[in-house]
Amino acid sequence: MSKPIVGTDLDNAAALLREGEIVAIPTETVYGLAANALDSSAVVKIFEAKNRPEFDPLIVHTHSFDTFRLFAESIPADAKRLAEELCPGPITFILPKHPIIPDIVTAGHPTVGLRVPDHPVTLELLERVGFPLAAPSANPFGYVSPTTAAHVADQLGDRVAYILDGGPCGVGIESTIIDFSLDKPRILRLGGMSLETLEEILGHELDVQVSSSRPNAPGMLISHYAPAKSVRVGELDSMLLEYRGERVGVLSFCSRKPEVDPSLQRVLSQTADLREAAANLFSHLRELDVMPIDVVLAEWVPDEGLGRAINDRLRRAAANIAPDHKGERDERRT
Ligand code: TXA
Ligand code: MG
Repeated sequence: MSKPIVGTDLDNAAALLREGEIVAIPTETVYGLAANALDSSAVVKIFEAKNRPEFDPLIVHTHSFDTFRLFAESIPADAKRLAEELCPGPITFILPKHPIIPDIVTAGHPTVGLRVPDHPVTLELLERVGFPLAAPSANPFGYVSPTTAAHVADQLGDRVAYILDGGPCGVGIESTIIDFSLDKPRILRLGGMSLETLEEILGHELDVQVSSSRPNAPGMLISHYAPAKSVRVGELDSMLLEYRGERVGVLSFCSRKPEVDPSLQRVLSQTADLREAAANLFSHLRELDVMPIDVVLAEWVPDEGLGRAINDRLRRAAANIAPDHKGERDERRT
C-alpha cells in the first residue's frame, strides 16, 4: 500500500523537504505549501503546483527571530521591537534581502518577507531541517486559503509530496504583512495580528496601504481569496429583500436569519468574538461554496481588531468577475 498523503509523520516531511520536494505545512494562520527556501529548483515546484504567477514573491518561514539576520541585510529598530514581542506569531516582516535568498523566492524584489509561524509542528520541522521554508498559502492561485489538512488535500492533494497535518489553524486568516524596507514601516496586508496591537507596541500609528488595484504586496489582487460562487457583502436584511426568490446562502457575523433555511447559513461566531470569526471565515466560505445556491450574502463584521482583516477578505471575495465570465476565471485558477 502506498503511504497516505496526509499524516503527522515529521520525519517523512523533513526527508521530502531535504530531497527538494514540496510539503504542505500547518501554521497558526493558514496551511502553507513549503519548499527549501535556499534551493531554487525546489521553490520552482511551488509555483508549478499553485499555478502562481512568478511575479508574486513567497514568504520565508524560519524557526526564530534570531535567524532573521541570516536572511535580511538589516533589521530596523521597530522591526526588532515587534519581533521580540510577537514572534512566533501571525506577522510577516518585509526586510532588505540577503543574497543567500534566491531571486525566485522574492520574484526579483530586493526585499524578502520573513516570518516565524506559531505552530509547534512546523517549528519542530524547521528545527529539524535546518533551512528556512518558502511557503505561500496552500491553495490554487486566487482561491480561499486552506485552514485544515483536508482543504489542502481536496485542492492540491495530487500535487504535493506530503501534507503534514497539524489540525485546524487557530488564527485562520493570513499573517499581517509589514514593510520595513522604506523610511517608515507600512502595513501591506491586514491579517492575523491586529493593527491596534502593532501600534500599541510601537507607540505610534502605522501607514496602512492595502490597495488592491495597484497592490504593494504583489499577491493582493482585488479578486483574491475568492470562492467560485458570487459573493455579495452588505447589510443582510436589504440584500435578502433584493435576492428574494433566488437561491441564496448566508454568511452572518453572530446570528442566523430565521427566514433562511438553516442548512444554507453559516455563522462566524455566535458570541460575536472576532478571533473565532477569523478562525471560521475560510472554512465557512468553502462550505457555502458547495451549497446548492447561486449567491453568498455576507455581512460586514465590526471594523476593529481582526475584523479589519476579515472585512478585507470579504471585500476581495466579493470582487468576483461577472457570472458570464466565470469559465474564464475558473480556467485561470486550475
Ligand atoms: O499567513 C501567511 O502569511 C501564510 C502562511 C502560509 O505563512 N502565507 C501566505 O503566503 O499568505 P501568500 O504567498 O499566500 O501571501 C504572501 C503575500 C503575497 O501577497 C506576496 O505578494 C506578499 O506576501 N509578499 C511576499 N514577499 C514580499 C515582498 N518581498 N514584498 C512585498 N510583498 C511580499
Ligand atoms: Mg495566498
